[in-house]
Amino acid sequence: MRAVNKIIVIGKPLLFLLCLVPLLLLLWDAVQQQLGANPVEALLYRSGDWSIRLLLITLAISPLRKLTGRGWLLRFRRMLGLYAFFYALLHFTVYLWLDRGFSWMEISVDILERPYITLGFMAFLILLALAITSTRGMMRRLGRHWTALHQWVYLAGLFGVIHFLWLVKADYREPGLYVAIFLILMLFRAGSFKKRLQRLFALYSGKEREVGSFSL
Ligand code: HEM
Repeated sequence: MRAVNKIIVIGKPLLFLLCLVPLLLLLWDAVQQQLGANPVEALLYRSGDWSIRLLLITLAISPLRKLTGRGWLLRFRRMLGLYAFFYALLHFTVYLWLDRGFSWMEISVDILERPYITLGFMAFLILLALAITSTRGMMRRLGRHWTALHQWVYLAGLFGVIHFLWLVKADYREPGLYVAIFLILMLFRAGSFKKRLQRLFALYSGKEREVGSFSL
């Protein structure tokens, strides 16, 4: 077996298990009643933290590949993106169920009137759309629109980091770090930004038929 194939065959199940660790620790702490004085808040915070961390790691894959020349890194991107969505889904479920008790009135008011929740919700909707369309079948079916849709992952990242920054009241270190990482990742992309805009324009105006390899 070639070295690269070996990395992928061994790396994928390993990464799958590694990304499950935060969930297992959360479940363990819940069962052991070790979630602190406010368990719902702990569940909300820890699921939100892992969603934004995994989303930023997903966004870092492409620059890392360019820096290191390791093309196989891209093979792990979809799984990381899907895990970012998974933790966002958990986060949203905790909010709907344990925090708001499925009170749709309160939830609608939150989403419409609390800007940090509006942003979190928009980030979630983007991640949902990307997760649904992350399969090879969807990639084929959507053709050139798939690439354009999956560029929205950057918007999800932006909304996610602002959502965190906005809700923090005192200690800005962690959200500040994520904003800095997001900005560095965007700066890294700035060099090819113009080219990408031109390409996107060409995709939408139907001048380009080929779909590039861009995904979650
Ligand atoms: C589905 C829509 C979402 C809703 C309704 C929502 C709601 C919330 C709420 C109520 C909090 C706790 C605020 C507080 O008590 O001060 C929170 C925290 C947080 N959320 Fe969200 N959120 C959503 C989506 C997201 C997404 C998509 C991400 C990540 C990409 C995310 C990341 C975070 C983070 C990192 C925290 C703070 C955790 C901490 O303080 O350690 N949220 N969210």
